[in-house]
Amino acid sequence: MTLDFKHANPVEGVRFTAQVGVPNVVQGLFKKREPIARVAGSVPLDSLAYRLTAGLVKKYGPDPFYVRVATEEALLVHHPDDIKFVLGGSPAPFASDPDAKKKGMAAFQPDALTISRGDLWANRRAFAEAVLDTSKSLHRLAKGFSELAFDEADALLALDRPIGWEDINSSFQELTRRVVFGSAAGADLLLTQQLQELMAAGNKMPGKPAKGYAGFHEHINEYVETPDPRALTGLITKAPHDDSTDVAGQLIHWLFAMGDTLPANLFRTLAVLATHPHELEAVRSEFAGITAANIKKIAGAAYTSGAVLEAMRLWPTTALFGRVLTEDTRFPTGQTVKAGTQVLLHNLFNHRNRDRVEFADRFAPAEWVSGTASEDWSFNFFSHGPQDCPGAGLSIFLGTAFIGRLVTAGTPKVVDGVRLQPRKPLPHALDIYGLKIAV
Ligand code: HEM
Repeated sequence: MTLDFKHANPVEGVRFTAQVGVPNVVQGLFKKREPIARVAGSVPLDSLAYRLTAGLVKKYGPDPFYVRVATEEALLVHHPDDIKFVLGGSPAPFASDPDAKKKGMAAFQPDALTISRGDLWANRRAFAEAVLDTSKSLHRLAKGFSELAFDEADALLALDRPIGWEDINSSFQELTRRVVFGSAAGADLLLTQQLQELMAAGNKMPGKPAKGYAGFHEHINEYVETPDPRALTGLITKAPHDDSTDVAGQLIHWLFAMGDTLPANLFRTLAVLATHPHELEAVRSEFAGITAANIKKIAGAAYTSGAVLEAMRLWPTTALFGRVLTEDTRFPTGQTVKAGTQVLLHNLFNHRNRDRVEFADRFAPAEWVSGTASEDWSFNFFSHGPQDCPGAGLSIFLGTAFIGRLVTAGTPKVVDGVRLQPRKPLPHALDIYGLKIAV
């Protein structure tokens, strides 16, 4: 008899599709649709999604199990050992280009690393790692970058009014243009606008480049051809690449990840610090006296980085992600899963799994300093394994510099939106659109 994983029943599949699959799609897979994301943040959709997965895991776990998503059965993987098997086996046999992702991303980054396979993936990965200094503890250009992060924090403090999502987002869009392309791109709002429009088109999953892609690609190429030695473009000539790499096509991912995803996580970090006086004090005392020039101290500010990592664990910007099998594959427990099957990881559940994570629903930055959080394969806001996020180190460095500066030069206080309570389990959603923080 061949071994098989268990199957959730069709009714559970309908509920999983409605409560976990659909919310991720209707909120906008690539560019969040603000009115819908706001509603989603204000009703307990994420708590329902958590409860549903928790119930299924209790019933069908601890092994992975199949659950129907729309018309197809996908394999839900939740135990850290199985997560390690899957993410450790990316990009083959666990490829990171399931159909929906590929069709959506084709609109704005058809040649992205994350939807590449085989030699092409290896080629593009080597390029990304070389420019982003993925394996180094400190990026070569860290000094200039920390100055930019401090400047952005100072500019927000100088506004002298509570800051909202729009403020921090546009601030990071500017920082991103400067980090990636240099000062010449600082005021290039058109570039950001082009990307936003293309990403909105990606929500419709067109399966081909959206109108305007060629012009956007050309726009990026102009910066690539006039590299700035103080920006990432200045490191491109020395990084391994050839014609198949499509350098401009690689930079697109960097732009939205640094300009949109990173500030969303940092705004949540600020909100949680503003409502947790103990942890805020710990960050302030760790960061006291650190200047933009002290790059080693910024990189070593483990508690401040831990605060950023914790906000990412509690409210992952990638709530659900997946892989697709390139060939029939036998799991370590003996079950074989067919080529073409989608494998899902529900970060929203895995990060808060109360049966596994002792600090599931509280803000616990110290777990990233002296605990085991950084070795735990349950936490995949940056993913894990060979295809993990190559920009993670740079993101945390920029985020630590920015948050550290903001909370030592100012005092964050939530004036509008969700007020988190340290003594209560933290909610599964934290709406950034309704949030206003006085700094
Ligand atoms: C807080 C900010 C960020 C978060 C939460 C984040 C998260 C992630 C996640 C979850 C993945 C894996 C996606 C999957 O396999 O389906 C990923 C991959 C990737 N990230 Fe990030 N990222 C962030 C910032 C950045 C930055 C700043 C850059 C570049 C400068 C970057 C570049 C990439 C690239 C190129 C990949 C694809 C890797 C591959 O397929 O080999 N990310 N990121």
